[in-house]
Amino acid sequence: MRQSMLLLVACISAIAATCSCKTTPPAQNAELLSNETAEAEPAGIADVTAILGAFHAEITLLQDKLTDRKECEIEGIKFAAGRMNGRDVVTVWTGVGKVNAAMTTTLLIEHFKPKEVIFTGIAGGVDPNLQPGDIVIAHKTAHHDMGTIWPEGLFFRGVKNPLTGIENPVFFHADEELVKLAERAGEKVGLRKIDTVHGPREPRVLTGVVVTGDTFVASEEKCLDLRKRLDADAVEMEGAAVAQICRQRNIPHVVIRSISDNADAGAVVDKQMFYILAAQNSSSLVSEMMLLAASSPDTTEKAGAE
Ligand code: ADE
Repeated sequence: MRQSMLLLVACISAIAATCSCKTTPPAQNAELLSNETAEAEPAGIADVTAILGAFHAEITLLQDKLTDRKECEIEGIKFAAGRMNGRDVVTVWTGVGKVNAAMTTTLLIEHFKPKEVIFTGIAGGVDPNLQPGDIVIAHKTAHHDMGTIWPEGLFFRGVKNPLTGIENPVFFHADEELVKLAERAGEKVGLRKIDTVHGPREPRVLTGVVVTGDTFVASEEKCLDLRKRLDADAVEMEGAAVAQICRQRNIPHVVIRSISDNADAGAVVDKQMFYILAAQNSSSLVSEMMLLAASSPDTTEKAGAE
């Protein structure tokens, strides 16, 4: 009996040693960001808005707008924090694709405890009326490559949230207050126009559905399918992954995307041509959101997860 007790204790200790995690408390992150002493947590760090983007250009545009900018590196990922139009923000470049976005979002949430998450960047237009530079504010996002492939095709289905054991929905709803804030910003912001044969075209800002998968879509047929089955307006490679993490962690979020191409056979060339314009428009809208939020701070108070 005594022997088996000793064995049990030894096993538990071994498991505990294997599972022990190296955690960095938020206070340490504050220390990294601050030039002040370790005890001095920067004002408003708990009230910080996280802004993420997949491409360097997308996030550099935002980081250039920061004042009181401080940088830190956590687990090899570089974060830049500061003030944007009167709001405390932390920004990060996630890299492309769902896994990179999930990794960076989780790291950010663990270390900065943001009150809300905004993802900004470019997307392929699935709604045929969308043109480069137009903006889609995602009121909901979905993984377009998640579910079961039956002989008839892909049947969309969410996976279980490991924190609750409850199955996630196919669509992740954005925070309503953040969507409203983005819509108000869309009415005010000055966006870059695209030159057409009929002269400069004013970009459209619409609220719609953004779908996400680990593939760059350059197929009209796939677009028709995404539109028919998910009512998609735009397609990209990170949004639903970030949305899923935010839902699972109860953090309000919204995905803002500007169109760089039409996800058709010309998408690769169009993306090269228009991604700077699209990234600028998306980041301008996010920056305007911060301005509006700073002038009415209650606007981004947590409205609750779905
Ligand atoms: N991001 C920008 N354009 C895209 C496309 N066509 N497919 C997936 N992600 C994109």
